[in-house]
Amino acid sequence: MPCFYLLMGPDEELDLAHAELTALTGCISSGRVAIGAAAADVSRSAYIRLSADQLAVGANWPELRRAIAQLDLHCNRYRIEVFRPGPKAAVSTTGLQKSIADLISGHPDLDDPRVKFALIVTQNSWRFGIIISRSTQRWRHHRKRPHYYSHGLPPQIARALVNLVAAPGDSLLDPCCGSGTVVAEALADGIRAWGVEIYPSLASQAAANLRSLGLPANIMVGDARTIRGNFDAAVLDFPYGHSGPVDEGLYRDVLINLRDQVDRMALVFGRDQRPLLEELGLVVTQQASVPKGQLTRHIYVVSTKKEQQPVR
Ligand SMILES: C[S@@+](CC[C@H](N)C(=O)[O-])C[C@H]1O[C@@H](n2cnc3c(N)ncnc32)[C@H](O)[C@@H]1O
Repeated sequence: MPCFYLLMGPDEELDLAHAELTALTGCISSGRVAIGAAAADVSRSAYIRLSADQLAVGANWPELRRAIAQLDLHCNRYRIEVFRPGPKAAVSTTGLQKSIADLISGHPDLDDPRVKFALIVTQNSWRFGIIISRSTQRWRHHRKRPHYYSHGLPPQIARALVNLVAAPGDSLLDPCCGSGTVVAEALADGIRAWGVEIYPSLASQAAANLRSLGLPANIMVGDARTIRGNFDAAVLDFPYGHSGPVDEGLYRDVLINLRDQVDRMALVFGRDQRPLLEELGLVVTQQASVPKGQLTRHIYVVSTKKEQQPVR
């Protein structure tokens, strides 16, 4: 059965949302709605609001209405949720819910539904389906923590970066962890994660942030240029802009150190660093840009030399 996904988040972060969509579901999209073959679990997603099995589709409301009528639906204890990521349609949300309910035999239950239907209205398509999975949006609760770092990542972006390279059960390193945002997102998701930070004061703030969220304080003071270990994945939010001097020698040294220890990495720079990545033999598999005021975060997913080595 075909399925659809609905993306959420600010327009500026849509590029990252599309990269996360591809990582979690294999789908490619350029808009707020993506179409796939089978609805994937999106509970840990930063930007995928929901996945749904598609029951009916139309180019406009009369077409969709006809398609739903043909389904001859019978269902008890259901609720219809309406999402309009595009321009407002002429028909009101309640009007749409009532019209669809007229096409379903059985009784709705708005407070405790057993089945949740989604209607998604965009400029070019009207889609109706059964919601299979939705984001827990747990990252929203991680905004509250004792220590903020002005150039730290917003938890939603950190969540997506983790999803680009790791799944529950994987091991993950953040070798420049600042206030620990990435480590918190990873640990909260059942990923075995550790953070390294060169400044002891920042490292202890990161540890306090993790403890305040009820997570283990897996933070060490250390230098990303020399740290040793073996990890499935790394997320590297390098110093850029005001978070420290832009030191391309540091980028090079850290990447050379990590490329034999980590399978895949999500890298964040303040400017395009593709030439450096290619020079170091890192293969870029995904790329996204997220503007932040006057700065743009350039995000790359790379597979490393370690991953490219044949298994013996
Ligand atoms: C952009 S910030 C990371 C922010 C972090 N993602 C957060 O959300 O709080 C980069 C961090 O790298 C740290 N750093 C710089 N050089 C380092 C090195 N050689 N080893 C480890 N950490 C380093 C900086 O102190 C800074 O905290």
